[in-house]
Amino acid sequence: MSQVRVHNFAVSLDGFGTGEGQSRETPFGHAGERLHEWFVGTQFFQSGDGLPGGTQGVDNAFAAQHEPGIGAEIMGANKFGPPGWQDDADWTGWWGPNPPFHTPVFVLTHRPRPSVEMEGGTTFHFVDATPADVLAQARAAAGDADVRLGGGATVIREFLKAGLVDYMHVAVVPIVLGRGVRLWDEQESLEQNFDIQSVSSPSGVTHLSFVRR
Ligand SMILES: NC(=O)c1ccc[n+]([C@@H]2O[C@H](COP(=O)([O-])OP(=O)(O)OC[C@H]3O[C@@H](n4cnc5c(N)ncnc54)[C@H](OP(=O)(O)O)[C@@H]3O)[C@@H](O)[C@H]2O)c1
Repeated sequence: MSQVRVHNFAVSLDGFGTGEGQSRETPFGHAGERLHEWFVGTQFFQSGDGLPGGTQGVDNAFAAQHEPGIGAEIMGANKFGPPGWQDDADWTGWWGPNPPFHTPVFVLTHRPRPSVEMEGGTTFHFVDATPADVLAQARAAAGDADVRLGGGATVIREFLKAGLVDYMHVAVVPIVLGRGVRLWDEQESLEQNFDIQSVSSPSGVTHLSFVRR
């Protein structure tokens, strides 16, 4: 069966996957861009923006795993837009007319709306369902390919609690946010369910890979 994979999910040393105070101007709240500086500096990210250069070391090796073999993504409502986006009929995400997914994307929300087809192969579907039910939809859309769980922390926590995550890459960024949305809440003894490896990057980021036993 296809795998459920998390890639490039960045957390602070104190475990926050986003800061407090998400808004249209501040998608990561008071965290700003600090959780993702390692990622946007990679060759993988730069080339996606059509730019030359970028780092080619450990950070890039992890970053580039984001794409291969993925046939659909599941994300939470707060990744798709700022608080209140459901009141804006024209909101189609942060990413412009050609979002970087190029697959069906299932947005978990308690206020679903009709699907939106974007340029480049991305279609956003809005679903109010349990993790198992939305995963069944995503798997059907992905065919033989894997399903990426795109975050944020709230949705990843739900899938971890349901035992539905096969692989998870977490990038621990050496900053202390103090407040925001935590990845590890209610995940006591999570380590018992996964084989975990860590690799340190010269950038200061520690990459953790969780492979389900
Ligand atoms: N650190 C990273 O690498 C990374 C990656 C991706 C995103 N982010 C950031 O993380 C933040 C978003 O994370 P988050 O934890 O706040 O929220 P989230 O996980 O994106 O979304 C949570 C919301 O999704 C909806 N939802 C979740 N499960 C549902 C279900 N089973 N059925 C129906 N609706 C469901 C609910 O919204 P409603 O009740 O409002 O519908 C819930 O409040 C953003 O700031 C984003 O930019 C960070």
